[in-house]
Amino acid sequence: MKRRPLIAGNWKMNGSQAANAALASEIAVAAGTHAAELLVCPPAVYIGTVGAALAGSAVQLGAQSLAEQTQPGAFTGEVCGAMLVDVGCRYVIVGHSERRILFGENDAIVAKKVAAALAAGLTPILCVGETLVERDNGLEGAVLRRQLHAVFDACSPAQLAELVIAYEPVWAIGTGRTASPAHAQAVHALIRGEIAVRDAKIADSTRILYGGSVKPDNAAALFSEPDVDGGLIGGASLKSAEFLAIAAAA
Ligand code: 13P
Repeated sequence: MKRRPLIAGNWKMNGSQAANAALASEIAVAAGTHAAELLVCPPAVYIGTVGAALAGSAVQLGAQSLAEQTQPGAFTGEVCGAMLVDVGCRYVIVGHSERRILFGENDAIVAKKVAAALAAGLTPILCVGETLVERDNGLEGAVLRRQLHAVFDACSPAQLAELVIAYEPVWAIGTGRTASPAHAQAVHALIRGEIAVRDAKIADSTRILYGGSVKPDNAAALFSEPDVDGGLIGGASLKSAEFLAIAAAA
């Protein structure tokens, strides 16, 4: 099956209202020319501004995280899935390694957030990936399976079919050290195999993105691997020319 590539920009905690509106406008102007689906995930406070700048374009809007609570209420500082939908989001990143490592999100919390995203009608981009220490200790497969199973075990087949997965080896994020295309392919095949254990048809249609120091000069080789269905882009998504060059490589 031919999966449409997804090129997602994770802007992390960057920019200002003016800078992020300008970045979104630059991407929106060029977006129509790409075969890949394009998505940007600005800081939550700028989602409305960026959504306005994207209006009428094919570029999708997403968030970087959401609350595990599904109902509005007394949860100071949190933003729930329904609110993200309300301001125009279709996607939400869940379980990014920065959330896991810096903000204490464990597998159980990640599973709850995926469920909350699905309940709100958002497409979760579930991030998984091993640290360098885990990799050096031969734990890569075990860590990935643990992260995946925590979510898969809580999903019905219909929910499983809604997921996008992003493989982001922690050692490759923001380091300039990219996984080799062959390594990414091997891990993506492992991930697809884990989905296939649950449902072979869903495994065939699930988009699995690679993230970690994707740049214009390494994107084409990564995206040419059969199980790499696009990218989750950090630093290079903050410059429209670089993000669009990566999109063109998909
Ligand atoms: P970099 O592209 O900056 O390595 O970040 C990757 C990432 O964390 C995307 O979510």
